[in-house]
Amino acid sequence: MNERLLDRWPVSCRTRPRRPGPKPGAVLLAIAAAALAARATVAGPSSASASARELQAVMGLEPNLARGADIFVYCSSCHGKPVQALPEGWVPTIAGQNPRYLAKQLVDYRLSRRADPRMQSVATGHGLRSSQDIADVVAYLAAQPPEWGRESVRDPADDTEAAYYRRRCAGCHGSLGAGDNSRAIPRIAGQDFAYLLRQMHDVVDGRRPNMRTQHAYALAELDVIQLVGLARHIAHLDSRGGESGSPEVGAGAGHPTPRLMLAAQRSAL
Ligand code: HEC
Ligand code: HEC
Repeated sequence: MNERLLDRWPVSCRTRPRRPGPKPGAVLLAIAAAALAARATVAGPSSASASARELQAVMGLEPNLARGADIFVYCSSCHGKPVQALPEGWVPTIAGQNPRYLAKQLVDYRLSRRADPRMQSVATGHGLRSSQDIADVVAYLAAQPPEWGRESVRDPADDTEAAYYRRRCAGCHGSLGAGDNSRAIPRIAGQDFAYLLRQMHDVVDGRRPNMRTQHAYALAELDVIQLVGLARHIAHLDSRGGESGSPEVGAGAGHPTPRLMLAAQRSAL
């Protein structure tokens, strides 16, 4: 990436998000197909405060891991291994993700604060009937060993993206991409490349209205080549066994019990 372009990344944003520029062939097709499939009208979205209230309620519940495992049987038809019927990049890795972030996303789908027809249907239908269901499945997922780093070893030519990531993303997502559970910041290291790329477009195009607008503004400043470079860099990061922005749920250094994680989440509320 061009360093001068990187320097234009806004610290505080004054411009409106815009759609990213023209996309090269294969990437264009992949993104266009995914965006089309993921297009969802957010009908009568609830307010951000309704979402925050439900998240707080979910985090206050005592989770039942056995029930969480039962619920995940349904989820695994898409999120499990092998991934069935869904092409690479459509389904994110969620095992071992920071639990507060997981819970927030499920609440956001349920309240139409994040648009995706598949997950909105899961979160409002029989897949997740109650806040207790969310608490149970999140505790189960957070207790699983992360299956991150599906991509191969990082391309050493990515130095510019690495520098960019350190300057603009690491402050929140962590230098190794482990996120921060207390702030509901997701682990992104080793996440699927195509999923990451699609999310960055979804954020800019308004399909994740519960994200801070500054995040959308910041990503909107990047052209598609920069976004592809960043997504590739992040997909190749490996947060296992290293620094974590959320030591209580850090991967690699041994998994704490769900109860400990839940206690940490509550104290963060
Ligand atoms: C029909 C397939 C399907 C099923 C069933 C399904 N998911 Fe998903 N899930 C997806 C897709 C596709 C996405 C990406 C959606 C998007 O782009 O917003 C996703 C996204 C998510 C995310 C957001 C992850 C992130 O990094 O932001 C979470 C959390 C999640 N799913 C949890 C679950 C849980 C829990 C269940 C079961 C109760 C479940 N999903 C069932 C397909 C599915
Ligand atoms: C001020 C803190 C902050 C900074 C800086 C930041 N992020 Fe984020 N990011 C977040 C939070 C918080 C979320 C979750 C938002 C939500 O609740 O939906 C997030 C979500 C994401 C997601 C979606 C992950 C998923 O699983 O769906 C991606 C991709 C992402 N950020 C990429 C980046 C990149 C690339 C940069 C740097 C260019 C960056 N972020 C900088 C806080 C930050």
